[in-house]
Amino acid sequence: MADVANPLSIVSDMLSPVFAEIAGRLDVDPVVRPSDRADAQVNGALPLAKQIGANPREIAQRVLDSGVLAEVCSEVEIAGPGFINLTFADSFLSAQLEVVAVDDRLGIEPAATIRTVVVDYSAPNVAKEMHAGHLRTTVIGDALVRMLEFLGHNVIRENHIGDWGRPFGMMIEHLLDIGEDVAAEGLRQGDLDGFYKQANAKFNESIEFQVRARERVVMLQGYDPDTIAIWQRLVDMSNDYFNMVYEKLGVLLTDDDLAGESKYQPLMPKAYARLDAAGLLGESDGAQVVFPPGFTNRDNEPLPLIVRSSAGAFMYATSDLACVLDRVERLGADLLLYVIGAPQAQHLQMVFEVAKMAGWLKPPAEAVHVAFGSVLGDDRKILRSRSGDSVKLIELLDEAVERAARAVAAKNPELDDDARAQVARMIGIGAVKYSDLSTDRIKDYVFDWDRMLAFEGNTAPYLQYAHARICSIFRRSGVARAAARRSPIGLAQPQERALSQRLLAYPTALADTIATYSPHKLCTYLFDLAQDFSAFYEHCPVTKADEPIRTSRLALCDVTACTLEHGLALLGIAAPEQM
Ligand code: ARG
Repeated sequence: MADVANPLSIVSDMLSPVFAEIAGRLDVDPVVRPSDRADAQVNGALPLAKQIGANPREIAQRVLDSGVLAEVCSEVEIAGPGFINLTFADSFLSAQLEVVAVDDRLGIEPAATIRTVVVDYSAPNVAKEMHAGHLRTTVIGDALVRMLEFLGHNVIRENHIGDWGRPFGMMIEHLLDIGEDVAAEGLRQGDLDGFYKQANAKFNESIEFQVRARERVVMLQGYDPDTIAIWQRLVDMSNDYFNMVYEKLGVLLTDDDLAGESKYQPLMPKAYARLDAAGLLGESDGAQVVFPPGFTNRDNEPLPLIVRSSAGAFMYATSDLACVLDRVERLGADLLLYVIGAPQAQHLQMVFEVAKMAGWLKPPAEAVHVAFGSVLGDDRKILRSRSGDSVKLIELLDEAVERAARAVAAKNPELDDDARAQVARMIGIGAVKYSDLSTDRIKDYVFDWDRMLAFEGNTAPYLQYAHARICSIFRRSGVARAAARRSPIGLAQPQERALSQRLLAYPTALADTIATYSPHKLCTYLFDLAQDFSAFYEHCPVTKADEPIRTSRLALCDVTACTLEHGLALLGIAAPEQM
């Protein structure tokens, strides 16, 4: 097991040989779980009893008789049909916590098997506004990247921007018409939709423009150097804007991570030829298609994945197939994560299936659609601005920071302007990110300023505040955090024991989060931790306690702050020291 610190894992490891002996075979899970009635319970006697036809209470008794539990428990008791309730010895918990307190990794071991993971996320479209869906993929992708990197995986970020295709014919012609300076003005400021809409309007009105736009697409596809040069400038202008958004958001993406659709164009003929060579291609209405098994339309007829249109053009699916090949064969990836909205589920499942049929995706390599739901407005419809357009991401982020600044000014008037601006940024951006990350990604969520910026409830400001509060306890105590964390820890009060067990469960929480690529699980853990801390702080005086309890409690405070800060950092959220 990866989590050396967690008492549940430790007990499980200790009991495995005992269960193996009773069962007469290896690999019997003792099933150690958290419990409402005690610190933990061992449930494994019941399934084992069933398997070997024995009495579960007798098996439980044999487990107790082994004496193994006495090393770590102050109390053990057989309950009901054969559960074993455990109360951990205080000395056991504090010894574990003392190890974690001085560990930079807070008890989290690097992954036992290191994978090469490609994370496909963000992927806005050139000359189009980033919408709330792009916010989700960017924030979720960023959190997953941070967690996977922390676990020691070899992570490759790919920003698969929409930078190729037919609309570029009209956009390039429009850019030439209005002049690059005028275009740059609008695009760099983030008036992306405006530019696109103008081009589109012209296309609908003027035959002459249509002809030029069509010719331009052909030139682009033929890699005409002049056309490519203009196209590149158009892409660069949009990228400047995307980078501005990324910078405000504080995500890891840089220009080095760009891997747009254009990059995969030259690879599509090869992907197509390999599908052909594998005998997978069939015809449907003149198009070249693959029929992956298990996909049918409404009439229950097999559903084709179109890889070449009847006009001979490669498709969105072909570029994603070329992506799979590139990621698996050139990059050597064995885990492909696609952080893309739920509506693209069928497209992706079909692409994955075809890649498997072609033998490109073989275990241990796997592809996972990390799907997410929509961001909704108060009206429970897709979030839109008042004018009905999609909300401009950059304005949303600016508003978050402004609102946070007002909240901070009200809460802590003593902060100077600089500090307040800095903290407002951490809180505002943190609130937006956290409200996105803290709901199960597959669900829709309602974008609600008041809720996300509240200092109470499962919000970023609540967690940031818990962290800042601990920092302020230290400022008042006159004890350095590094000194506190090297101190002996004693646990006597129930709130101290609860807090320490929560802290020791951090590695498990991260493992659960990554196992399902669900950042909300880490959020829930951090929220529980902040609440446990609150209960502890309410019942157990810290700075006013007598030694050695005072130092021990300061040590608990320190590990809590470290864990909050660390967990928030894995979510891409900063933890200010005062707010
Ligand atoms: N650019 C697309 C959009 O904005 C998302 C692309 C997702 N990535 C992919 N490999 N298909 O909807």
